[in-house]
Amino acid sequence: MTAIDQAVQLLRAGRLVAFPTETVYGLGADATNASAIDKIYATKGRPDTNPLIIHVADIATAMRVAADWPESANQLAEKFWPGPLTLVLRKRTSNSPANGAEKPSDGPNHPQFIIHHSSFIPSLYVPDNATATLQTVALRIPSHPLALELLRAFGGALAAPSANRSTHLSPTTARHVLDEFADSEAAGGNVGMEPALVLDGGACEVGIESTVLDLTGAVPTILRPGRISPTQIQTILGVPVTLQKPHALAPAQPALSPGQQEIHYAPRTPAYRFSTAQRGLIHPEAADGRSNGIVVLSPLIGTKRYGPIIAMSNDSYEYAHDIYGILRDLDQMNLAAIYIEMPPDSHQWAAIRDRLTRATQPLPS
Ligand code: TXA
Ligand code: MG
Repeated sequence: MTAIDQAVQLLRAGRLVAFPTETVYGLGADATNASAIDKIYATKGRPDTNPLIIHVADIATAMRVAADWPESANQLAEKFWPGPLTLVLRKRTSNSPANGAEKPSDGPNHPQFIIHHSSFIPSLYVPDNATATLQTVALRIPSHPLALELLRAFGGALAAPSANRSTHLSPTTARHVLDEFADSEAAGGNVGMEPALVLDGGACEVGIESTVLDLTGAVPTILRPGRISPTQIQTILGVPVTLQKPHALAPAQPALSPGQQEIHYAPRTPAYRFSTAQRGLIHPEAADGRSNGIVVLSPLIGTKRYGPIIAMSNDSYEYAHDIYGILRDLDQMNLAAIYIEMPPDSHQWAAIRDRLTRATQPLPS
């Protein structure tokens, strides 16, 4: 039996399987199985107010999950799927008929024919716990070949958040996932402990989570920045895109836009961010030149690694690819602190600045 066959069998049995995507590893469950979805929340320790992304192999399957398929979704899906863009759309409800006539009068001449397609496409109903009871659903087609192979073999939809414990850093290798869930069946721990299996697809190419774009409002709104930029989206749609400000919502209101919780994606070592103007305040070495247990990450210092300063790439794609793995490695070193010099405040660094802001605290004054 291939690993994919085994994964499909486990998923059909309601178990969790972690799999690689081009962004980060996901912790997957059958998106139509409410008790399997409960296992995702329990395994991650994730608040049940934080909805999951639903992964599908093709647009046809996405249309079975969404209640409507606006032209904007079509344009973006054609351009960016498979790829690191998640679209938030209206969700089908449990009482949508499988293939029946919810609105028998609907037809090609009905003005809402294009929008409300539930009368002619069989539904794939995602239960309320997957979407934290929201009336919307987040959908994406990942581009990692193993993810696509799994989705095609499974033949449905997989709910999959990043395969880390809640508030930890997202995993970008199979090893990271096994480290997160060391007591799991997949890691050779307890039989029955989730996840049951981790599919190893190597290191994730993008390295940070997908761009989340909400298409249900009057204006397309980016809820979480990622590799696909506002400019790229605007170019396709021909209309301005709103960027929801990070931390716009209080952490007490997670349901609306839960990726905006303040501390998210965080290492366990105390981590601080600083601006280039604050460089003079950082002393990565004690006066005698020995390490004082702190490490500085910067994309600006140079290209070689030296002392306790890690020279990050000044290419934002490469930086994104590396950052979570480096933070994980540093987290195992029992450092006194990690100091991170923020990359420039420009569009190309927006997604990375977002993640760094969530992973760190401002420099203590
Ligand atoms: O790159 C990714 O998106 C990865 C891979 C595995 O696909 N997944 C991922 O999932 O990052 P997760 O659960 O860690 O983040 C999902 C994000 C959260 O910020 C969540 O609030 C948002 O998507 N989200 C999900 N459903 C939503 C909805 N209906 N409305 C608004 N935001 C939603
Ligand atoms: Mg996550």
